[in-house]
Amino acid sequence: MVEMAAAMSRLGTESAFEVLARAKALEEQGRDIINLGIGQPDFKTPPHIVEAAVAALRDGHHGYTPAGGIPELRRAVAADVAKRRGVDFDPSQIMIVPGGKVTMFFAILMFGEKGTEIIYPNPGFPIYESAINFSGAKAVPMPLHENTGYSFSADEVLGLITPRTRLIIINSPANPTGGVVPRAEIERLVAGLDRHPQVAVLSDEIYSRMLYEGREHVSLLEFPSIRDRLILLDGWSKTYAMTGWRLGYGIWPKGLIDAATRLAINCHSCVNAATQFAGIAAIEGPQDAVDEMVRAFDERRKVIVGELNQTAGVTCPDPGGAFYVFANITGTGFKSAALQDRLLNEAGVATVAGTSFGRFGEGYIRFSYANSTDNIRRAIRRIREHL
Ligand SMILES: Cc1ncc(COP(=O)(O)O)c(C=O)c1O
Repeated sequence: MVEMAAAMSRLGTESAFEVLARAKALEEQGRDIINLGIGQPDFKTPPHIVEAAVAALRDGHHGYTPAGGIPELRRAVAADVAKRRGVDFDPSQIMIVPGGKVTMFFAILMFGEKGTEIIYPNPGFPIYESAINFSGAKAVPMPLHENTGYSFSADEVLGLITPRTRLIIINSPANPTGGVVPRAEIERLVAGLDRHPQVAVLSDEIYSRMLYEGREHVSLLEFPSIRDRLILLDGWSKTYAMTGWRLGYGIWPKGLIDAATRLAINCHSCVNAATQFAGIAAIEGPQDAVDEMVRAFDERRKVIVGELNQTAGVTCPDPGGAFYVFANITGTGFKSAALQDRLLNEAGVATVAGTSFGRFGEGYIRFSYANSTDNIRRAIRRIREHL
């Protein structure tokens, strides 16, 4: 009998992928499934980005690249960060990785081990908790509250820090809630971190371009007091509808970039070359497609929030960003997982149970509105019929 390492039993998963597989299986049986489960834009990657990758392949970019990414792409990211976040970085601090997840996994592996603690958002992106458990560290949930638009309370987070805390993970705009942490709360957290200089911060800003009703993106990069211990995670997947390309970046403090690069060399060597050229075209090319996608999401957001709030037993706060709503379903009398299964199997609507995002997600369902307004309306009609 083969015997796996004990850590494997602690590794979780991302249920959205399981829901997707079940939805596909039902479709193959001829069922009509409306997918409000998946966390990816339903748009195609803009053509000029695709063409840049095709040209790179034709131009013979077929080999390994430096582990941190091709210099042109790192420079393009540095220029974009300077423009959008108002902070200048040396491109050598930027590591190009195959998707946003990689920065997260590396940061957690770098700090997590037995006897340490990592604070992470709950409900939150499931890989945080999974990777923390895998690392051997204690996963300490940072509760996000519906009544504050799913923001954290800085005082509550600071109260969770112990001498064993190595890393705090922040995600705004957030998956699964769409929540956006207000500037004042971020400022209070950053000020409080002065008292805990041993704590690093991972700021997952993968939804930074998806904000609604004039909300501003507050990047943790703005705060010089934590810059030497801040890891910033961003990427192309959501902003440019490029989830399948596998392209993301991390900005690492000077003291950590070598360790991150060693992890990359041990793991994936580099991101495929053509994808990196696509990444340059995305950043440096026209941004109209991004604006158009965000405008479409905004319209759908209003539709889904309105429709869900008119559904018996369901309440749905207005999310400030990303493309998810996290609806409170306690009034339906169902538990989250039971309702998710019922909606998929009986109503033909794929959603994700709140509990897939941590134990504080009980009583909630995540709906992704990366689908047409017609489909959203149709889905809600079906849901009403089945409740
Ligand atoms: C909060 C958050 N961070 C990171 C990621 C990972 O993005 P990528 O597909 O680029 O790995 C996701 C994807 O759903 C996400 O929701």
